Amino acid sequence: MMSVINKPETAATARLKPDLAGIPETMLWTLYDRAIESKRPDRMFSDPEAERIFNSIDYDFEKNYGAPTRLFSVRAMLIDAALKKWLARHPNGLVVSLGEGLETQALRVDNGRMRWLSIDLPEAIRTRELFIAPTQRFRHLAANALDPSWMEDVDPRSGLFIVAQGLFMYLQPSEVQGLFVEIARRFPGADLIFDVVPRAMSELTLAGHRQTPHYVIPSMPWGLDRNEIESTLRQWHPGLKRIDFLPYRHPSRRPALFEKLLDKLSWRRNKLQSLVHVSV
Ligand SMILES: C[S@@+](CC[C@H](N)C(=O)[O-])C[C@H]1O[C@@H](n2cnc3c(N)ncnc32)[C@H](O)[C@@H]1O
Repeated sequence: MMSVINKPETAATARLKPDLAGIPETMLWTLYDRAIESKRPDRMFSDPEAERIFNSIDYDFEKNYGAPTRLFSVRAMLIDAALKKWLARHPNGLVVSLGEGLETQALRVDNGRMRWLSIDLPEAIRTRELFIAPTQRFRHLAANALDPSWMEDVDPRSGLFIVAQGLFMYLQPSEVQGLFVEIARRFPGADLIFDVVPRAMSELTLAGHRQTPHYVIPSMPWGLDRNEIESTLRQWHPGLKRIDFLPYRHPSRRPALFEKLLDKLSWRRNKLQSLVHVSV
C-alpha cells in the first residue's frame, strides 16, 4: 500500500524519488515550472502546495528540463482565471481534471463548495497520493482518460468543467477525436479547456527531440496549427456553442499591446501553442 504524506513537516524530512517514466514523468516538468514560478518575486501566482511537493521530491529537475519555461505557468494561470470566472456562476460545480498529475489547481481556485475529480493513470495517481490526500470534495480516480467509464462517475447537474492541461498532445489524433466527441455527446452544457501544440512541435518530438542532453521529450502525436483548430473541432462536433482561444504566450518583457499586434500576424499566430476553451 502506498502511504499518504500530506504534512509539510513529514515531506521536508523525507524526500521521495518518484518512480515515473515516459508520459507520466512529464508531470514533474510542469510541477517544477509552477513551483519555481511561485517562488519568484515577480510571480504570476502563489502556490505553496506546489512548492511543498517540489521540495519533497528527490529528482534533478534542472538537469532534465533546464530552466523553467514559465509557459506552463501561464497555461495554469489562464485556466485558473477561467475556472474562477466559471465558479462564480457555478459555485457547486464539478471540475474534472484529466491527466491531473501533481497539479494543485483545485487549491488555487477553491471556493469551499466546488467539487473536483482528478483523473490520471494508476502510476500517476499513486505518485499524486504520496503528496496529496484525496478528500470528499477533491476525489482521485486512477483511470485511463480514453476509457469512457470515468464518465459514469460524473454528475453534471451543478455544472461541469473539464480541464485537460498538457494531455491531448500525448494522445493519437484518433484518440483525441474520440474523447472529444464522447465528452461533447455526453455532457452538453459543459465547458472544456485543453491545449494544443503546433504541427512543427509535434513533428519535432516524433523525431526524438532532446529538451536537454539528459531528457528526450515523449512523442506528441497530436498537433494542429492555430488556424486549423476551430474547423477541426466543428467538424468533429458541429453543435459546439463557443470556441475561444486564450492569450497563451510566453511572458515577455515587451508591452502587451505589442504582443497583441504580433498575434495579429497569422503566420506567427498559427505556429504558437494554443489554449482552447470550448463551451459544448
Ligand atoms: C504534462 S503532464 C500534465 C500534468 C498536469 N495536467 C499539469 O499540467 O501539471 C501529462 C499528464 O497526463 C497523464 N496522462 C497521459 N496519458 C493519459 C491517459 N491516457 N489518461 C489519463 N492521464 C494520462 C500523465 O500521467 C501526466 O500526469
